[in-house]
Amino acid sequence: MAKIIAGVGSSHVPAIGAALDNGKTEEPYWKRVFSGFEKSKQWMAETKPDVAIVVYNDHASAFSVDLIPTFALGCAAEFPPADEGWGPRPVPVVKGHPALAAHIAQSVILDEFDLTIVNKMEVDHGLTVPMNLLFGQPKDEWPCPVIPLAVNVVMYPPPTGHRCFMLGKAIRKAVESYPEDLKVVIFGTGGLSHQISGPRAGLINSKWDKNFLDNLSKDPKKLTRIPHIDYMREAGAEGIEMVMWLIMRGALEDKVDEVYRFYTVPASNTAVGHIILENRRKAAAGKAKRAVAGKTRHKQAAARKSTQRKVSKGTR
Ligand SMILES: [Fe+2]
Repeated sequence: MAKIIAGVGSSHVPAIGAALDNGKTEEPYWKRVFSGFEKSKQWMAETKPDVAIVVYNDHASAFSVDLIPTFALGCAAEFPPADEGWGPRPVPVVKGHPALAAHIAQSVILDEFDLTIVNKMEVDHGLTVPMNLLFGQPKDEWPCPVIPLAVNVVMYPPPTGHRCFMLGKAIRKAVESYPEDLKVVIFGTGGLSHQISGPRAGLINSKWDKNFLDNLSKDPKKLTRIPHIDYMREAGAEGIEMVMWLIMRGALEDKVDEVYRFYTVPASNTAVGHIILENRRKAAAGKAKRAVAGKTRHKQAAARKSTQRKVSKGTR
């Protein structure tokens, strides 16, 4: 059975990709950002997922204003990096997992979430930057296949936080009904607070961001009640990207272990936020162990009773 074992939240600031591609990671401004992901890369290298589901938004690279799907699931065998105006990023082509993606599409659509199935799509910095931050900058290929899930947060109306959270739950159910043993990690990307245009350009609200991360970890249902207007008022127009983190969180168990968090400002006028949440494998293992121990005790008691009955029959 496939299983989602952990969730990763990460900003997908395009300038981070440009800093990587142009060899600026050691410059003090960027070193502050990249050093916050060193432990994450180590965690990912140890976790070794078989598949990553990456929730991100397309920035008019694959979809123009002619066609804006709310939730678009990448079911193709591969997804080339998009040309975002200065040529495609020098990153490997993202290989998909068509069989698991098709299974997720079927399960989630039958659960009444109207996904758009995408069989051909280029992926932009929204997906490739978080991949770099967690997997580094491989030359030839990414370490695991990826299922992209593009969410509309660029044109009103985006989905609500609650809808995103519930979609995450449906994705978890879908993954857990896939027969092959696969370790899956799900990414929620975008944000945190930022506004890229207008009189409030450069807005960063660290207090809001930190509160969001606290609740993401401990009380995500509280976040599902935040209306769009509050994201935009408190976290800037592009802060609405944070609803995508709720898909990741919905795909995890109610109680999770926060294994890592990083937050720094600014990076290209944007707050960079990052979190790693693990499903409680220890708790689950303990529960299974207790269940086995309980069964064993039950069997031993039954055996004792049976022996006592035989003995008492023999003595009569
Ligand atoms: Fe974005």
